[in-house]
Amino acid sequence: MLLERIHTDHKHISKLLNLLDKKAIRLEDGEAINLNFLRDVIDYLQRYADHSHHPMEDILYHYYLDKNGGSQGAIHRLEEEHAILREATDQLMDTLNMILNDAVVPRDRLIANIKDFAAMQRRHLAQEEEHVLPKLEKELTDEDWQKVEQRVSETLIKDPLFNNEKDSDYDELRAYLADLGEI
Ligand SMILES: [Fe+2]
Ligand SMILES: [Fe+2]
Repeated sequence: MLLERIHTDHKHISKLLNLLDKKAIRLEDGEAINLNFLRDVIDYLQRYADHSHHPMEDILYHYYLDKNGGSQGAIHRLEEEHAILREATDQLMDTLNMILNDAVVPRDRLIANIKDFAAMQRRHLAQEEEHVLPKLEKELTDEDWQKVEQRVSETLIKDPLFNNEKDSDYDELRAYLADLGEI
């Protein structure tokens, strides 16, 4: 069911945000971190969160707004935030690629970028989990959910990280999450 999938995606995204925070703390402590690994986290968020999860939510939110007259500020804002988050993900990826290509980026700036990014993503998730999704769950009927499910079918891709397949990208990240019992 679509709502379950959204909740599951949010749990997965939260795990990765925790991981980003851990990496920021390591950087603050002056330790070295594996940047390719960090790049994989951001790559996954670009590929899946920004290009499948958020478009799926946009379809759901539009459906809800069309049905209910369409002036619900909090739900409109989420769609705007999807665009802002996508830009933030792209920017963080650019920063990581610059460092991986030996450009000098101050450590403090990288730390601040990672922390701001994780905080922004968390605020968005909390808004959806605590306010918007419970409202939609209460107000949309089974028939509504079926219609939305049909509409999102072309947008949704298979989750490229949190799946049970052996051969995949993100091998290192997957192994790390498996060690933590998070996958
Ligand atoms: Fe969202
Ligand atoms: Fe979401």
